[in-house]
Parts: sequence; structure tokens; C-alpha cells
Amino acid sequence: MSGSIFLVGLMGAGKTTIGRALAKKLNKRFIDSDHEIEARTGASIPVIFEIEGEESFRRREAEVIRELSALPDIVLATGGGAVLRAENRQHLSQRGTVVYLRASINQILQRTGRDKNRPLLQIADPRRKLEELSRQREPLYREVADFVVETNRPNVQFLVQTIMSHLELSPKQIDAPVGQQSTAMPVGNMHAASDVTAPSTMLVTETIRTTRTTSSTIIDPVTGDTIASSNSTFTSVDIHFDAQPNRRDMDTSSIASSNQSDNDQARGTSAGETIRLEVDLGERSYPILIGRGLLDDASVLPSYVDGKRAAIVTNDKVGPLYLARVSAALRAAGKQVTEIVLPDGEEHKNWASLMKIFDVLLAEKCDRKTTLIALGGGVIGDLTGFAAASYMRGVPFVQVPTTLLSQVDSSVGGKTGINHPLGKNMIGAFYQPQAVIADTATLHTLPPRELAAGIAEVIKHGAIIDAPFFDWIETNVARLVARDDAALAYAIQRSCEIKAEVVRQDEREGGLRAILNFGHTFGHAIENGLGYGQWLHGEAVGCGMVMAADMSHRLGYIDAASRDRVRAVTLAAGLPVTAPDLGTARWLELMQVDKKNEGGQIKFILIRPLGAPLITHAPQEVLLQTLAACTGD
Ligand SMILES: NC(=O)c1ccc[n+]([C@@H]2O[C@H](COP(=O)([O-])OP(=O)(O)OC[C@H]3O[C@@H](n4cnc5c(N)ncnc54)[C@H](O)[C@@H]3O)[C@@H](O)[C@H]2O)c1
Ligand SMILES: [Zn+2]
Repeated sequence: MSGSIFLVGLMGAGKTTIGRALAKKLNKRFIDSDHEIEARTGASIPVIFEIEGEESFRRREAEVIRELSALPDIVLATGGGAVLRAENRQHLSQRGTVVYLRASINQILQRTGRDKNRPLLQIADPRRKLEELSRQREPLYREVADFVVETNRPNVQFLVQTIMSHLELSPKQIDAPVGQQSTAMPVGNMHAASDVTAPSTMLVTETIRTTRTTSSTIIDPVTGDTIASSNSTFTSVDIHFDAQPNRRDMDTSSIASSNQSDNDQARGTSAGETIRLEVDLGERSYPILIGRGLLDDASVLPSYVDGKRAAIVTNDKVGPLYLARVSAALRAAGKQVTEIVLPDGEEHKNWASLMKIFDVLLAEKCDRKTTLIALGGGVIGDLTGFAAASYMRGVPFVQVPTTLLSQVDSSVGGKTGINHPLGKNMIGAFYQPQAVIADTATLHTLPPRELAAGIAEVIKHGAIIDAPFFDWIETNVARLVARDDAALAYAIQRSCEIKAEVVRQDEREGGLRAILNFGHTFGHAIENGLGYGQWLHGEAVGCGMVMAADMSHRLGYIDAASRDRVRAVTLAAGLPVTAPDLGTARWLELMQVDKKNEGGQIKFILIRPLGAPLITHAPQEVLLQTLAACTGD
């Protein structure tokens, strides 16, 4: 019996079991399209669903079906939702005999009961979900099928016989010899066919690739030496991004300048213009303005204060430098201004400060149209954002970040909150501002260590997502350290674009946003191990990136040159590159408690290659080697 046979039907209808037995009987090759997707991407179906979403999975599925259905003489078990795409139905019905394996909902529920590999059924009421899927898909299965076989009777051999009888009784004529028009690639090829491109609105354009290795040996890609071997199983997911921001979603345009910025200007070779980014979060979208002297321009900030009142929250370090200017601009625009000056320091990012803000707002009878303005670094931004999220159930707020860290990181993404004595950032809310106004002139009064700490997060953005930006940072790191306004503005712009795009895709930290923790698993251990406040967060992250790059190299994901580049640029930014010697046992303990751990394994954000993130577990001996190589006295 020649030609391919394609099995369709709901999950749990028996496609894989029956398909395998049928293939054996007919002496054909059996392929399961879900397994094929997993083999190509290296990620399990639930992981692909979690990281990329269903739509992206369907795209991969369509690509696999297009290729596999063109292979001669196979039995192909398709995923339950494969029929949803017309393109798949067309390929299947034109290129082989399609058999619909049909089972009752009760049977399916019994068979799929505890199967964690069925992402669509990981819900409270799987029966209802199955009924809904069945209603939606049944007509499509019937449309595409040459015949239907009921699989409620779980006797596989009987069902195989039934299918074979059908095939003999009514052989299907396939119009074109598929082998000749085939664009098929060898099964198991790790690279996706290049003619399938992601829709232009998607930033994640390439692969989620996972390595599932048992008993693995890791070879240095450059020297060919064995650098680690292990018997443990580890999985990893790497996500590739467009190097360029998505133009539709990240409309980057110049506002204050009458000339369109040319490439050189956009890349930080000229100062004095305002860069405007739009963060696209639907109704919660907001602009980020970046430029030198924005606080001196009395027309900028007031235009984001809708009501008549504004309350500026700042601290006793930033207040003396910038509060008068900001207040004056608002008053000049006819706003009634309330000033709230808190004590400086991370230790004041707490309940007491939050209450002080509420006390003043209530005492001054600030209504729900009052706009809160955060004037300061990340501490003031997080506190004020949370106050705005909860005062009168939410009032508008504007971020005026005055540290590099807050300009490139904390003011984008909507995370607000305070510390609790039992944990940092434990109380908070997701709340987006009306606007972010980042004046690079404020960075000229920032202490050098604070500036370097901000550069760490800039390097991070290049290292995980944008290799050309990483190159740019390498070339321009001295300008950043010297506070060249144009270079700072470009670094802020590109960082905000990258962070905003990650946040747009994963506003509430479903998965993708985890890549922003590159360098942080090691960094948190350092901060925690030394006691908070010894090293600045950005310093710990800088050193953490050096460690993550070392580990990426040990696992064969980057070459030694890339590892060295991460170290060199971190060092040039004025950041520490040697980790404190906390003792191995303490290090491991600290790494384990990091909140990003799941299922007992430490989740590392690594790079593969430089400019692309990878979420992975690593064998403990590799971690020990990295600790040994990167710690000093
Ligand atoms: N919300 C988020 O997504 C997010 C992300 C990263 C960090 N954070 C939070 O941000 C905080 C760290 O932010 P940070 O690094 O900006 O620290 P910070 O707010 O404590 O500022 C650092 C120091 O610089 C001072 N300062 C601020 N601007 C100045 C200026 N222009 N000139 C001179 N001195 C100035 C501050 O008063 C402070 O002493 C942490 O609480 C962290 O949890 C939040
Ligand atoms: Zn950070």
C-alpha cells in the first residue's frame, strides 16, 4: 500500500499508539508531529506554549506539517489542533489519506487524566475545555478526513485492522507525486525552514531551542577540549530577538528637533534633541522622553499632568538638586503643587514612607485627579508608583527618573512596590505611568558608582538581546563613563526599547520577562551574601554577568572571546568583575534561595550566542567551576 497516511483527531484519541502500530504493519515510517516539533526546538510542547504562546506554536506546527506531509510513505500523527489551519488541512488532504480517529470525551478524559504534556487541559475544568475543543474541531476533522474510525475500544490491533481494511477498500488517488514537489527537509533537522518567516509584528523571530541532555559531555567550541561532563538532565530555552526595535510597536521619533535625526545622531554622536519612544501596552501605552535638559524645558512635564494638581515625591538628596525646577515648571503651568520629601536610601523604601506619602496627600486633600510625580532614582520611582497605584484606588503618575539605573530599567515595565522586613520588593503592584521623562543632565550629579551600576543594566540589554548594541557599548563605554549626553541618550533609548518590548510581550512576568534577569541569579547571591547595601545592585549584576558568561562558555554556548568581551566591557564600565569569596557552601545556599528557582533547580539566564538569551538549568559541577573561576578573596 503506497502513499502516506495522516491521522487527525483530538488529543488522547490514540493517534500516536495506533499510528505507530499501523506504521509497523504497513512497513512505513512513523512520525509524530508534536514530537518532531519538540525535537526541532528542543523544548517540550508545554514549554513552547508557556514561552511563546499558542499562536507561535501553531506556526511551528504548520511548518512541520508542510514539510512532513511532503515525505513519501509515512504514517503521521498530527497534533489535535493541526486542522485549525486551512493550510494544514489542504496539505494533509492533498498529499495522503487522512484518517480521523474519534473518541468520546469520557474516553479522552480517562486517557489524558494526569498528562502534564497537554497544555490546553491544564485547567480547572478539562471536560468543558474538551467539549469546547470538540465542538470547534469536529467539523474540521470530518472535512479533512477520508474516513472516520471510532477509537473508544482500546484494542490497538483491531483498530489497525479496521484502518487497513478501509485503505484497501477505498484507496485514495493522490494527484501529484509528492516527492517531486517536496520541499521537505530531513526529519530531525534542527533548523527551521527559512521560507517561513515570523509575522513582522513579532519580535521573537527565531527559535526556542532546548537541549535535553542526559549523560552529556560539553566540548569547548573553540579548542575542542572537554570542559564539563555530567549525568544530569538539563533543559534550556533560548529566544532570539530582532536586533532592531519593531517599528510599528516602538515608534521612535524625534520630537523637539526640527530635523529628523539621522543615523549618527540616533547613535549618540550629537546631543540636544529629544528622543521619544512609545511603549505599546494598549490602553496603558505611554511615552518615554529622553534628552538633555528636559527638566529645564517648562513645557514638557506639565503636558503630562492632566488635572490641576500634582504631588512631587522626592528625597533629601535629589530634592535640593532638582525639586525647585520641577515645581516651578508645574506652577508656571498653573498647577497646584504639593512637595513630599522623604529620607534618602533603600532602607526607606518601606511602609513608613508609603504612609508618609498618604498622610500628606490626605492632609492636603489631594483628590483622585492628582498626578503623582516620582523625582528620583528607582527607590523613589517604586515607592511613588505603588502610592499612585493604591491612593484612592489609583491616581495618574509620571516618572522623572534621575539615576541611570532608573532611566534604563526600573521606570520601564510597570513594577512598583516597597520592601518588607522579610524580603525586597515583596509588596507591590503592576502600574504603568502616564509618561517617563529621562533628562540626561541629571546624570551629571550622580555618584560614579551609581552611574556604573546603571551601565551594568545597559550592558545586560545588549548581551541578551542585541549583539550590535553590545558592540556599540564596547566602543562607547568610555563616553558613557564620561557622561557624554548623546551617548547616554542612545544607551537609554536602546535599553528602554529592548525592555519595553520584552515587557509588552510579557507584561506580568509569564516567562519571557525572565531573560531580563541575566546576571541577576549570581548578582542576587552576591547582594544577599555580602549583606544588602555593600555592593550596589548594578555592581552585583555586572559581576553576575561575568559569571553567567563564564558559565555560558563552559556549557559550550559562547566562545572564549565572547566571554572575555563581557568581562572587559564590565570592567571598563567601572564594575567589579571578581566575585566575593563567600565559600562554596554559602554560595550554593544563596543560589538556591533565589526566587527564580523552580522545582529545586536553579534557573540560569545565559547567552547563546552573545546577543541572544537562553534560559537553562546547569549541572552543579559546571556551577562549581564557574564559582571557582570567578571568585577572588
Ligand atoms: N521597578 C523595577 O522594575 C525595578 C527594576 C530595577 C530596580 N528597581 C529598584 O530600584 C531601586 C534602585 O534604584 P537606583 O539604583 O536608582 O537607586 P536609588 O533610587 O537609591 O538612587 C541611588 C542614589 O542616588 C541618589 N540620586 C538619585 N538621582 C541622583 C542624581 N541625579 N544626582 C545625585 N544623586 C542622585 C539617590 O538619592 C540615592 O542615594 C531598588 O529599590 C530596586 O529594587 C526596580
Ligand atoms: Zn537589575
